[in-house]
Amino acid sequence: MINALRGMKDIAFEEADKFIYTIETATQIAKRYGYQYIETPLLEETKLFKRSVGESSDIVGKEMYQFIDKGQNDVCLRPEGTAGVVRAYVQAKLDRRPRKDKFYYYGAMFRYEKPQKGRLREFHQFGCESFGEASVYEDFNIILMIRDIFDALGIGYTLKINSLGCSECMPPYRQNLIAFLTPKEALLCEDCSRRIATNPIRVLDCKNNQCQTLLHDAPKLTQNLCPTCQSDFQTLQKLLDSSSIAYEVDTHLVRGLDYYNKSAFEFVSSQIGSQSAIAGGGRYDRLVEFLDGKSVPAVGFALGIERILDLVTLPTSKREGIYLGSMLTQEGIMETLFALASRKRQQTKVEIEYEPKSLKSHLKGADKINARYCAVIGEDEWSQGEIWIKDLETKEEYRAKIEEW
Ligand code: HAM
Repeated sequence: MINALRGMKDIAFEEADKFIYTIETATQIAKRYGYQYIETPLLEETKLFKRSVGESSDIVGKEMYQFIDKGQNDVCLRPEGTAGVVRAYVQAKLDRRPRKDKFYYYGAMFRYEKPQKGRLREFHQFGCESFGEASVYEDFNIILMIRDIFDALGIGYTLKINSLGCSECMPPYRQNLIAFLTPKEALLCEDCSRRIATNPIRVLDCKNNQCQTLLHDAPKLTQNLCPTCQSDFQTLQKLLDSSSIAYEVDTHLVRGLDYYNKSAFEFVSSQIGSQSAIAGGGRYDRLVEFLDGKSVPAVGFALGIERILDLVTLPTSKREGIYLGSMLTQEGIMETLFALASRKRQQTKVEIEYEPKSLKSHLKGADKINARYCAVIGEDEWSQGEIWIKDLETKEEYRAKIEEW
């Protein structure tokens, strides 16, 4: 037997219903906020992710599905969606004219991680990217959109926010942090002692308990922000205070991708175990430039579909469509059923039972597929050119001419 690869899984039956429902709900809400669909390739040049997500990130350093293709190109399955959308934005020269562009997307992402509950090697995201709006109001607007999506799906959450500063206040903070961490290097975990040189900010969100204890008195970026970043971060908190969104400031929230500046956020659920982040995002005002575009501010987020499937409440399904069957083996009966089904499918869902069965069995079959109508041709109906119909919701029963129904 051939199984799916480790960390990759099939989505079927009720999970598939929830999957589609999640995408459809998020799509509907993203459209209400002015977003339009974009589809980018699953495979991109490796250097795209090195330059955007960052060489020192775990995603690029350890988790890429990277290979040389038959044309000797260094390529990689996308580990996230933002880099591809920014590449597409720059490639289409959208950065050259002052306009706001908003894109949404969904699809598979690939990270060669150690699989566990909520952590897959192939997983799906629904994401949004907003270009050309530097205002912190747009950060708030995006958070409101995620709130709307989770509310519509019936999912509870806590929001964590932080500010990662800008090119003015981040470098001096980085130096402060390096000065704080260097004397503690030997006590930090292996990853963190390496990160002091490569990416000291990532030390802040290390999951190792000893590292977290050592970080207790570490300088906080939120206390070292420049006046603009400080004022934007306060505005964001004021806006959140005025909304019904429960949030906390988490000064150790740095996100696992290097392109962020200013607002960074994560939505977490307390109901799904240790992999609790159900959505993450933030501002990335320098990324368009890093990928050879003009300077265009941007902000976005992605939600992890698999992590929320268990939390989604599907709306109670209503009876829908027609179950068609017959009790006969007569010549011409199947042709009649197929012709009727084709006509009815112009308006609704129709399923045909091919086996002639008793009325009782047909009624059971119709109930099993949650059909609204059970329509059956018996001997008497066939001789009259009619069909017997039961509305399984109102329980009403009647006969109609096959041609006219
Ligand atoms: P991210 O935080 O790496 O951000 O991923 C977003 C979400 O994808 C996470 O919150 C989580 O729910 C889900 N996720 C991540 N890794 C896995 C995994 N291995 N298995 C299952 N689910 C996972 C990004 O990817 C950014 N591109 C988000 C963004 C868009 N920022 C700005 N625009």
